[in-house]
Amino acid sequence: MPRFIPARIIKKKRDGLPLSSEEISFMMRGFLEGNIPPYQVSALLMAIYFRGMGMDETIALTREIIRSGSPLELRDLPGMKVDKHSTGGVGDKVSLILAPLVASAGVYVPMVSGRALGHTGGTLDKLESIPGLRTDLSREEMVSQLKAIGIVMAGQTEEIAPLDRELYALRDVTATVESIPLIASSIMGKKLSEGIDGLVLDVKVGSGAFMKGYEDAEGLAKVMVEIGKGMGKEVVALITGMDQPLGRMIGNSLEVLEAIEVLRADREGKEDLWEVTRELGAWMLIMGRKAETIEGGRDLMERLLLEGKGLERLRELVTHQGGRDVISDTSLLPVAEERMDVLSEEEGCIASMDTERIGWASVLLGCGRRFTDDRVDHGVGIRVHKKIGDPVERGEPVFTVYHRKGQDVGKVIEELRSSITCGEKVPSPPPVRGLIR
Ligand code: URA
Repeated sequence: MPRFIPARIIKKKRDGLPLSSEEISFMMRGFLEGNIPPYQVSALLMAIYFRGMGMDETIALTREIIRSGSPLELRDLPGMKVDKHSTGGVGDKVSLILAPLVASAGVYVPMVSGRALGHTGGTLDKLESIPGLRTDLSREEMVSQLKAIGIVMAGQTEEIAPLDRELYALRDVTATVESIPLIASSIMGKKLSEGIDGLVLDVKVGSGAFMKGYEDAEGLAKVMVEIGKGMGKEVVALITGMDQPLGRMIGNSLEVLEAIEVLRADREGKEDLWEVTRELGAWMLIMGRKAETIEGGRDLMERLLLEGKGLERLRELVTHQGGRDVISDTSLLPVAEERMDVLSEEEGCIASMDTERIGWASVLLGCGRRFTDDRVDHGVGIRVHKKIGDPVERGEPVFTVYHRKGQDVGKVIEELRSSITCGEKVPSPPPVRGLIR
């Protein structure tokens, strides 16, 4: 006889009471085993969203996520294994630039990534825009690739944190993403299943982040750092800006294209993207014992970039994972052929961007999913011409939408148009805001 009744556990959380680790375990294992249906887990997630969870509950959920699979065994690899994870942003293609650069310095980077979540993009979807590239690697494939080239970027397998994969897919479509305990346990559960020594967290803050205010972002960063340290890992969290899309491109193959440009040391107009990447990389290099100070780490990142080391490592990763060499021939990326500009109706300066709205516009376009089994369109996307602080004339393009022939993009254009405000000149917001360690 089962010890618990799901509805009573949901009710308990709904009423703001803490759940025991046994109750959390009962719900989560039942869900994975198919004994507790998604609608009850969705209700529990919504109750958690409104009522929150204490540190003990968050740790219990993190442990459940780790325990749902079997962590990668990387002890045999002779060196530090370090990864980074972002809480999610719009135009956030940092991983595609960062992971190859850091790996090229001799740090092992075993990166288990996620798909688009809510209005934010996901590294796996971006990688899968590369024709032929596989992200569904087995544990054995991951370990052997790490041994060969020091880097792997793949999805959760049945064996790595499968509970997070299931919860993530449910949260994506039930508006239960923006919750500190759910984000913290999801990220830390997944990352602590990778067999890493160190982790750098990129906690986004601003209109396009799940955490809109600095205090919430800082709260999330502290919870994650505490969980990681409690489990014996080196962890630091950077708080970085998401008041506007990062870089200039949004959409899966467009972001791969932009990442390749940065790895070719073309940083013009994407200085924010490079600054965030360099800072995260500097911390990863410190954890990987390749730099002693943050300044040393930044210098090494610059050097690796200018020497083209990251680009070469990305090429190796792509070919190892079965992808076509889009680094030599970017025309292999399936970029949508049709373009439509979104023109400014005002003149002045870009004063603010509702970046979540821009993210949802990209989901509507097909970059993300509205239902769990939707297929993303890897070719569609948005180019961002103007960012906060830029002057703009009436009739000048602010965005360009890349879409398919015959696709109705009226609503996308409307969302993009209403995502910006024009006004007096404001300074461009700083990309890196804070550090929690
Ligand atoms: N990234 C994750 O992996 N999980 C979340 O819940 C949010 C962002």
